[in-house]
Amino acid sequence: MTQLRYGIIGWPVKHSRSPQMQMSAFRALHIGAQYDLIPITPDELKSGVAQLVAKRYSGWNVTVPHKASIIPFLDEIETAAKVSGSVNTIVVREGRLCGYSTDGYGLQMSIKESFNIDINEGRFLFWGSGGAAAAASAHFVNSGAKEIILVNRTVEKAQELKQKLQEISANANIAVYQPHQLSELAVVMKKVDVAIQSTSVGLNSADPISIPLEILCPSLNLVDMIYSETTLLGRARKSGLNVIDGKGMLLHQGVKSFEIWTGKKAPVEMMREALTSNGR
Ligand code: ATR
Repeated sequence: MTQLRYGIIGWPVKHSRSPQMQMSAFRALHIGAQYDLIPITPDELKSGVAQLVAKRYSGWNVTVPHKASIIPFLDEIETAAKVSGSVNTIVVREGRLCGYSTDGYGLQMSIKESFNIDINEGRFLFWGSGGAAAAASAHFVNSGAKEIILVNRTVEKAQELKQKLQEISANANIAVYQPHQLSELAVVMKKVDVAIQSTSVGLNSADPISIPLEILCPSLNLVDMIYSETTLLGRARKSGLNVIDGKGMLLHQGVKSFEIWTGKKAPVEMMREALTSNGR
């Protein structure tokens, strides 16, 4: 039996936890497959993608810095991925490259699992308007979110994202704020179901706290998309907020990728165990 080929492309990619997570799922379902770490530099993306097709990869994940730049090489792209300009999953169907973003689904499932909150009719605040926020908010609007609040340092970027989201649903209620509008944001925070820290601030332990603590109310549900415990999460938890990091999102985006590739229900608990087994 020929071994199916999957992997993850990125630069750098060696710290990715996707191989352990995806391989646990392939093994559990007795699918003969490999999942490779595939480092590709930004300059080599076009030839790198051509090589993957030539080597008969069935699909792959896409991480930084290729999530947007891979789009011109695709034949088809699903709505949320198109709107957000961000792709993290490719499947090859009869030689055609089809792109998806499963990040929004990952966030959706993580929020459901931890806070028991559904997207439908919910109010969500994204602190940040980069690729990660765009992919997730597009999925949220597509899935019937009632209200999306975008907060970003560069207000033009948030306005641009608002416009794209409004193209998905003209009815969606989308507001834009800048981080310094503290008194307005303190009021907004009281009304949202979940606030999602989606900037890259906090990736390094020396980073400042992205969301000012004084505008967070104790009843708030807070997600930090960053996988590790950030200073923000630690401080917010101490203040009594319900907080989760980005590991649940990472798990469920991988679950969705697996299901897109195989058409089978993913063994979620196996994948969760594989993701956390090395204690990271
Ligand atoms: P990603 O794909 O991880 O979302 P990105 O598209 O580069 O990465 O977006 C990074 C996000 O973090 C943006 O919202 C960015 O804000 P700007 O649009 O104003 O640049 C935010 N960000 C990064 N560094 C920041 C900082 N020092 N202070 C505030 N926001 C920051």
